[in-house]
Amino acid sequence: MVQQTREQWSGSRGFVLAVAGSAIGLGNIWKFPYMAGANGGGAFVLVYLLCILAIGVPIMIAEILVGRRGQSNPVAAMRAAAEESGVSPVWRLIGGMGVLAGFLILSFYSVIAGWALDYTLRGLTGALSGLGAEEAQAQFGSLLDSPGLQIFWHTLFMLICFLIVARGVRGGIEWAVGWMMPLLFLLILVLVGYGAWIGAFAEGFTFLFRPDFSQLGPESVLMALGQAFFSLSLGMGAVMAYGSYLSPQESIGRNTVVVITTDTIVALLAGLMIFPIVFSIGLEPPAGPGLLFQTLPYVFGQMVAGSFFGFLFFLLVVFAALTSAISLLEPATAYLMARRGLSRLQAAGILAVIAWILGIFSALSFNLMSGFHPLGFIDALSGKTFFDLLDGVTSNIMLPLGGLGVALFVGWRMKRAAVAEEVRLGSYFGLWYFVLRFVSPVLVVLVLLYSVGVLRG
Ligand code: TRP
Repeated sequence: MVQQTREQWSGSRGFVLAVAGSAIGLGNIWKFPYMAGANGGGAFVLVYLLCILAIGVPIMIAEILVGRRGQSNPVAAMRAAAEESGVSPVWRLIGGMGVLAGFLILSFYSVIAGWALDYTLRGLTGALSGLGAEEAQAQFGSLLDSPGLQIFWHTLFMLICFLIVARGVRGGIEWAVGWMMPLLFLLILVLVGYGAWIGAFAEGFTFLFRPDFSQLGPESVLMALGQAFFSLSLGMGAVMAYGSYLSPQESIGRNTVVVITTDTIVALLAGLMIFPIVFSIGLEPPAGPGLLFQTLPYVFGQMVAGSFFGFLFFLLVVFAALTSAISLLEPATAYLMARRGLSRLQAAGILAVIAWILGIFSALSFNLMSGFHPLGFIDALSGKTFFDLLDGVTSNIMLPLGGLGVALFVGWRMKRAAVAEEVRLGSYFGLWYFVLRFVSPVLVVLVLLYSVGVLRG
């Protein structure tokens, strides 16, 4: 089922870079640490790692497989794969939900990336040098309080994202990831080292890696599952869309393992970069979405040439966010192009504008609308802002459902022969196929049901 006219990555390197670029982003550097902080540390991290292994790995392989088999955007790829196996094309709805989820995530993702843009500028102007812990926190507070500033940066980020997607897959995405990711990795290592030196390393390390199950709240398991999907870019067709540009000779299994290992290491390192500082400046681990921005500026404040390093770090975070945001916009763009016959420019433009408008509400959730709790009448959701809910619904419900759909589809509906022919996992096929059919779906369903129970009290 190979179409010669479709764009393709320039070999395995391009694909790995693009998927890694999609996976590694704010989810690793910004979200993972604060989720771990809010959910008690070590036990959460352990559950997260289990989710990656038992659910993330098999489902990522399945998503790439469908994309390459179907050679199209997520919706059409699901439909093509369904038709090939003679099952109902209704399975394409899974792709449709994914396109929607990605688009919703993009709206608030851009706001957080905007924070990083703001800090990039602060580094550039020297505003990050010599900050004490309290000043660093006050600085972040003033950004949160300013709707104008947040919307400004959000606008800029969305615009850049749109421009890259409008340029197309090869030209935009591969180039952007190729040289930035290694640099980011290096800088995180430097910061882990420096933080270990000035911060409370032992305490931070223990918090992250010593599981204390008494700290694992009932919702924490759902959070860990959602975080695994979010961090690996699973459950919404991003990886599927990228898989459709993968050449048939490439190994899906090996590429998946490389990407997932890298993603996990970056998340753990980000935790190691942040928690020693959390403890040394007397912040509480459950500080919430601001954790990254309240801790690192203090580190830069203590460093020689701290403002410069701060500038470089936040710039790279912005790039990591960009390569992820691109993958949030790409599936919806590919879908609109195919479905409505729009040009790449038009499709990406329309979507970016809508996501931009939606994002404004997330930006306002931290200030003008911070008292607005749309689902406050449900006990477990009282106190959740628009941003909290959008993040929660997409990561914890839509992505796991999307992933569940793909697992069931590939595991139970696609013809086994077609699946085996496409993945070519060799002697690992049996194991993978078994886990995908029996283990991953059951775990996802259990976690989802459990959390529905928790919600209803
Ligand atoms: N994985 C990215 C991160 O960790 C975010 C992301 C990009 C994403 N594409 C996605 C999340 C698709 C879910 C689905 O920052």
